Amino acid sequence: MRGKPTKEVQPGEVLGRTIFRDDGTVLVTKGTTLSQTMLKRLIQEDILIVYIEDELSEGIEPTNVISDQQLLRGAVEMSKVFKEVKNSMRFTADQKDSRLRYVYDSLHIESLGQFLDEIEKDLFENRDALYQVFNMFSADMYTYKHSVDVAVLAMLIGKELGYSMKDIKMLGFGGLLHDIGKSQIPVEVLNKKDKLTEEEWQLLQKHPEMGYELIKDVISLNGHIKQMVRYHHERNDGSGYPFALMDSELTEFIKIIVVADIFNAIASSRVYREAMTPEKIMEYIHQETVYRLDYKVVNTLLKVVHVYPEGIIVQLSDGRQGIVVESRKGAPTRPLLRDIHTKELIDLSKELTLLIKFVVN
Ligand SMILES: [Fe+2]
Repeated sequence: MRGKPTKEVQPGEVLGRTIFRDDGTVLVTKGTTLSQTMLKRLIQEDILIVYIEDELSEGIEPTNVISDQQLLRGAVEMSKVFKEVKNSMRFTADQKDSRLRYVYDSLHIESLGQFLDEIEKDLFENRDALYQVFNMFSADMYTYKHSVDVAVLAMLIGKELGYSMKDIKMLGFGGLLHDIGKSQIPVEVLNKKDKLTEEEWQLLQKHPEMGYELIKDVISLNGHIKQMVRYHHERNDGSGYPFALMDSELTEFIKIIVVADIFNAIASSRVYREAMTPEKIMEYIHQETVYRLDYKVVNTLLKVVHVYPEGIIVQLSDGRQGIVVESRKGAPTRPLLRDIHTKELIDLSKELTLLIKFVVN
């Protein structure tokens, strides 16, 4: 089984995994032979990637730390939170107490906590599981799915760094809520395809502070969580916003959210541009790390993510093409491949003179 951009799937191909709608209901069941009409519908519904079963990918099972369904459940929960919190704007300045109570209720802290507990359990049960950030969701769900992705990535980094269960969960909350301030920004600005005007850009840059303002008086959220929300666009060299803080002013919790946020944003596709290729992701993340990101955190992230997910077809430096059979922990650019013609296995962790040149499909 392998993931394939929906646009490239041909009628007659067999679906490897069930596709769910944004609300969690089933759209197409796995095992279905896809027709032209169904494919059209999937594209209309903004489903960017689907899993298909074919001879080429036989025996390959793309893995992930959490299931698609769990991810969707988290995203649906976050969409509820964002939509409800947005309404807190209707309270006036002298209705502070009612506003706080409303914000507290609409954050659904308890059910988000339960969701994070489940994820945490999975992280400890699948010790070597890696995270893959491929986007199988509609563009509308981007912000919500991104929040869950950042939470899982941050928790994985925390786990790898030996954090306590309590601190890992705190990272999860930081990830889920880091962009909550975006709930206060008009969707026209958030989803704008063209370049933002200066005014819109100024407004967008306020979202970390808007998020902090929303949650700062919520007693059940720890101070570290509030800091993660407020400072998630700061960078080590002072080039971030809105406070241009320096390395020494940022806690490791914040640095983890920063790295998880950047990595996920560049690795998953969004409304206004396609996702970067794995080669570009690695190049970008290494460049950014020189001055702007925490080296230890970036290195830890690269141990826990797939850059070349299982089922992807790549071009090698010797001209051969291989399909990724297995991604290995700690070696993001050196997976185990299978030659797509001869079926011979190519272990990039041993054949160090071979390089992946680009992703074919
Ligand atoms: Fe943000």
